[in-house]
Amino acid sequence: MTDYINVALPKGRLGERVYEMFARAGFECPALLSPGRRLIFENAERGVRYFWVKPSDVAIYVEHGVADVGVVGKDILTEYRPDVYELFDLGVGRCDMAVAAKRGFSDDRLRTLTVATKFTSIAKAYYSSQGRDIDIIHLNGSIELAPILGLSDVIVDIVETGTTLKENDLVVVEKFMPISARLIANKASYAFKSDVIDRLTGELARIRSEANDKDN
Ligand code: PRP
Repeated sequence: MTDYINVALPKGRLGERVYEMFARAGFECPALLSPGRRLIFENAERGVRYFWVKPSDVAIYVEHGVADVGVVGKDILTEYRPDVYELFDLGVGRCDMAVAAKRGFSDDRLRTLTVATKFTSIAKAYYSSQGRDIDIIHLNGSIELAPILGLSDVIVDIVETGTTLKENDLVVVEKFMPISARLIANKASYAFKSDVIDRLTGELARIRSEANDKDN
């Protein structure tokens, strides 16, 4: 039986971009891009099996070993600290973790600041490093609504193009953590399948540096 490498990819635009890199690295699986709602795809010839996974769940599949490797944002790795190896910065999916507020917001440091976020642990660590007392309101999405409706003073969230902030009349107060997509591996898989995982990592590094050369 083929010893497959099992890959958890984040469903969506980032996952499709990352798949293109994996395909160029010799792990193609054309069926993956066919329209439909299937979530598992394999190519026996290449010994690769892909799962389309909700982006915030990729690290869970890898930590539990049902996926050997996966691709996940540095934001998720920092927030949840899964017990996996972080192997490589793919250099795609670049964005920033930022504090944002309503235009004209001025921070009164004598008051406790109310912060709405999906990234509770990142927000706590950031404000603790500033010596600032905060109250956290955990939200699951559409974070930008919170300061507009008066639920919070500021938000801690991902900013990519800045369009969501702009369209909701919010502004960046500070960008404090650059984010990009990382290749992660299950620790036991990395011991048993190190040949194939090292080959994949080496090829992805080559593809990334070719892309950098093109940009420069
Ligand atoms: C993320 C993030 C911002 C938006 C930033 O939301 O939470 O809302 O993208 O991107 P931009 O700077 O390019 O506008 P996501 O699409 O993941 O949805 P969410 O509201 O569920 O968090």
